[in-house]
Amino acid sequence: FKIPEIHNEPMKSYPPGSEDRANLKAALNELKSSAPFEIPVYVNGEEIRTGQIVEQRIPSDHKTVLAKYHEADSSIVEKAIKGALAVKPIWETYPFSDRSAIFLKAADLAAGKYRYKLLAATMLGQGKNTWQAEIDSAAELIDFWRFNCKYAAEIYQQQPPKNAPGVWNRVEYRPLEGFVYAISPFNFTAIGGNLPSAPALMGNVILWKPSPNAALSNWIIMEILREAGLPDGVIQFIPGPAQEITDQILKSPDFASLHFTGSTFVFKKLWKEIGNNIDIYKSYPRIVGETGGKNFHVIHESASVKNAVNQTIRGAFEYQGQKCSACSRAYVPDSLWDNFRENLLSELSKIKVGPMDEFDNFVGPVIHAASFDKIKGYIEWAKSDADSQIIAGGTYDDSKGYFVNPTVIVTKNPKSRTMCEEIFGPVLTIYVYKASEYEQILDLANETSPYALTGSIFAKDRAAIILGESKLRHASGNFYINDKSTGAIVGQQPFGGSRSSGTNDKAGSPALLYRFTSMRTIKENF
Ligand code: ALA
Repeated sequence: FKIPEIHNEPMKSYPPGSEDRANLKAALNELKSSAPFEIPVYVNGEEIRTGQIVEQRIPSDHKTVLAKYHEADSSIVEKAIKGALAVKPIWETYPFSDRSAIFLKAADLAAGKYRYKLLAATMLGQGKNTWQAEIDSAAELIDFWRFNCKYAAEIYQQQPPKNAPGVWNRVEYRPLEGFVYAISPFNFTAIGGNLPSAPALMGNVILWKPSPNAALSNWIIMEILREAGLPDGVIQFIPGPAQEITDQILKSPDFASLHFTGSTFVFKKLWKEIGNNIDIYKSYPRIVGETGGKNFHVIHESASVKNAVNQTIRGAFEYQGQKCSACSRAYVPDSLWDNFRENLLSELSKIKVGPMDEFDNFVGPVIHAASFDKIKGYIEWAKSDADSQIIAGGTYDDSKGYFVNPTVIVTKNPKSRTMCEEIFGPVLTIYVYKASEYEQILDLANETSPYALTGSIFAKDRAAIILGESKLRHASGNFYINDKSTGAIVGQQPFGGSRSSGTNDKAGSPALLYRFTSMRTIKENF
């Protein structure tokens, strides 16, 4: 069985005056004029309105409510588990061609009919500019759906290479026994799409708790999957109070897997909870998680300063530094520092900060008040720290939206708080090192943080590249040379990190899909 040829979805650029721009503007206006949207819980193909309402607000205009979603309660969670398990025997024996047809159709719907609506929901609800939304809710989401089908088809074809005479050995890639619990984050609509869809494609049934701050875009994903023909009960959409829902779900004997993207703190807490409940479960749960990062750019003295500066600005400040892959610490050699600093400040002065529905803003709001306060706390700390000097930004304003100006701290202490701790906002800390101490700085970059998600080195000198690759071998799951630490593309750079950054099961690769299968070996004697 072969699926159609797969390519990365071409990205649209929405230039002024274009039809795409007009369509996107119309979608934004439509969302704004009909907000707040009411989002139900969606279980067993039934839209349920519990009356327990939570609001999703627009982060660039926090007085405006974009959506109101109904929260699932414990009776709904119970119904969702039962319903998912009831549909499971049918879904897991659907021919793979039919399961993949659903996700390939979903990809086409996201690429066409729903593209502008998803973009508008991601821009307004999650505070992305057009380009960042296009990368996410169009390209990456569509690519996940399509490439997963390609990878799954390849997995199903993998068979033992040897048969003794008179024997036929084969393996079957069964789904897990039980259900998968998917918890998705606010910062990528595409991850909201992938967390339930990847296991579903492999024949699993899923309880999906979307992020409160991505409720609308995630609900649109659910609508797309319904329209694409996903059978009722395969993915149960259950927004709700995280702790209660999770405690209940993790007590089910049929809990078979956690598919999580979010903070390291929450992931570890869930892992402990799963450990405490281990005697309850019918199977050892598969725990798959992608969590935090403190991603580095190490610049060698042979690097192109222009490129290193551009990539550092993009890596650190695109989407306000709220990508798990964002660059938040940089090491610059003293021999390049004056040039680097000058370029950096000059480029930063051109950056516009403001709401996302005004098209030329590069930096938008951070997601919510708690995030704004946390980032503000780090900036204020840097102002009071004798080793830190703020050379750009350091200002913020939450009167209308949660805006923080791109902030650059230069520190004399390479292990300062802002060099080590994840801030998840537009704050970059730079340490200027002696150019002759490149090797030591690689060791330092490796040791400085508990995370290992992404990182980059910038160098033209091949020996420096080799040394960087080798010394930073375990410092990231995605390693870039002369490129920013963000922006992995499905089908090109499988994505994920190790250490405290996750289980490194690589979204956008067959490795992730394997995690949601449980192989059966069959030996038949003729
Ligand atoms: N996959 C996203 C990136 O690489 C998080 O930036």
